[in-house]
Amino acid sequence: MSATILIVDDEDNARLNISDFLKAKGYEVIGVPTLAEAREYLRRGTPDILLLDVQLPDGYGPSLLDETAAWPLRPPIILITAFGDVDMAVDAMKNGAHDFLQKPIQLAQLEKSVHRAQEIVSMRRELAHLRRAQRQDLPPFVCNSPTMKAMLDLAQRAAAASVSVLITGETGTGKEVLANTIHQMGPRADKPFIAINCAAIQTTVLESELFGYEAGAFTGAEKRKHGLMEVADGGILFLDEISSMPIDMQAKLLRAIDERAFRRVGGTNLIHVDVQVLAASNRNLEAQIAEGNFREDLLYRLKVVDLHLPPLRERREDIPELVGIFIRQNNPRMGANIQDVTLRAMQALMQHTWPGNIRELRNVIERATLLCDDACIDLPHLPGDILQPPQS
Ligand SMILES: Nc1ncnc2c1ncn2[C@@H]1O[C@H](COP(=O)(O)OP(=O)(O)OP(=O)(O)O)[C@@H](O)[C@H]1O
Ligand SMILES: [Mg+2]
Repeated sequence: MSATILIVDDEDNARLNISDFLKAKGYEVIGVPTLAEAREYLRRGTPDILLLDVQLPDGYGPSLLDETAAWPLRPPIILITAFGDVDMAVDAMKNGAHDFLQKPIQLAQLEKSVHRAQEIVSMRRELAHLRRAQRQDLPPFVCNSPTMKAMLDLAQRAAAASVSVLITGETGTGKEVLANTIHQMGPRADKPFIAINCAAIQTTVLESELFGYEAGAFTGAEKRKHGLMEVADGGILFLDEISSMPIDMQAKLLRAIDERAFRRVGGTNLIHVDVQVLAASNRNLEAQIAEGNFREDLLYRLKVVDLHLPPLRERREDIPELVGIFIRQNNPRMGANIQDVTLRAMQALMQHTWPGNIRELRNVIERATLLCDDACIDLPHLPGDILQPPQS
């Protein structure tokens, strides 16, 4: 990658020397002699790195630090200071400058400093790229029915306010997809999203998974381990299948959420975290409470916002769009070229009761794509239970 460097220096010789040197190192360099021209350049585009003289004919270089302070991707700024102006340089560093170089500039130092700045720029590009890639991986959240639209609106508010959310719904209705969507919609999108499936983790290790442990807490605990709650700090902890959490663990979780703090297993220090908790369940938690398997106080703590995903049979208007999405996703992956679904096949899909909800629909379309040799999915490509009219 070649970085673009803007040099702002009124001394022609110095500017040209630096510029030639950096160009020879493979950088793209633009040189300007005044603050006004630097501002003009910054209005039109953003250099990757800014090399800035302090005393300029039309003003004070570091004022650009303030002017760019609010930019989300401000380029690293390297100041060129007069000999002995260390106090000013330290101030500037506190103000967000990346580095400073004293005149007369040592080219070896210049190269090192620019190289470090470039590493930051590369890392940012990489992260931005990863974030984009992640966003594209996320299935689009289909919601055409009025109930789903209202639900998503509430989810958006919960995301913005960072409050606890309980997501309920039958298996395959998209609880995990919704949790991911809340993460993407809210202010924590760039912070961790840590999911833990309470049903898949042994009761005995759930506590140390969640809260971590200190060295020597139990046999085999050789080194301190950070818990997922700590890893999720600043972001979101998604507790999937919360109804499987053992009741004594529920009490500890409730305390951690209430106090926004917890202790590692075997530890005495309170560890404070800022975590938004999302929980999901496909079981009726009220019934679990009645049976003594779930704590009522935890339920109320979790469902500050209660999001219910209706089963697919109650939002059939979502089916055509979901079918379209699954076909588009499958085609490249399965080397297929499905373009359409016959009317009678779509009618069958619309009439089915979908006990496995969206996951079942996705599997049915995948199977049909496999069986279909031409461009249109038809009745013979659908499984038998979908072709039977519902028995009632
Ligand atoms: N709104 C949606 N838009 C597009 N695809 C969706 C949507 N909701 C769910 N899906 C698809 O359905 C599948 C099942 O969703 P998910 O795993 O989130 O369900 P779940 O409610 O967590 O199920 P379970 O209770 O079995 O864990 C996902 O892999 C995804 O492909
Ligand atoms: Mg799930």
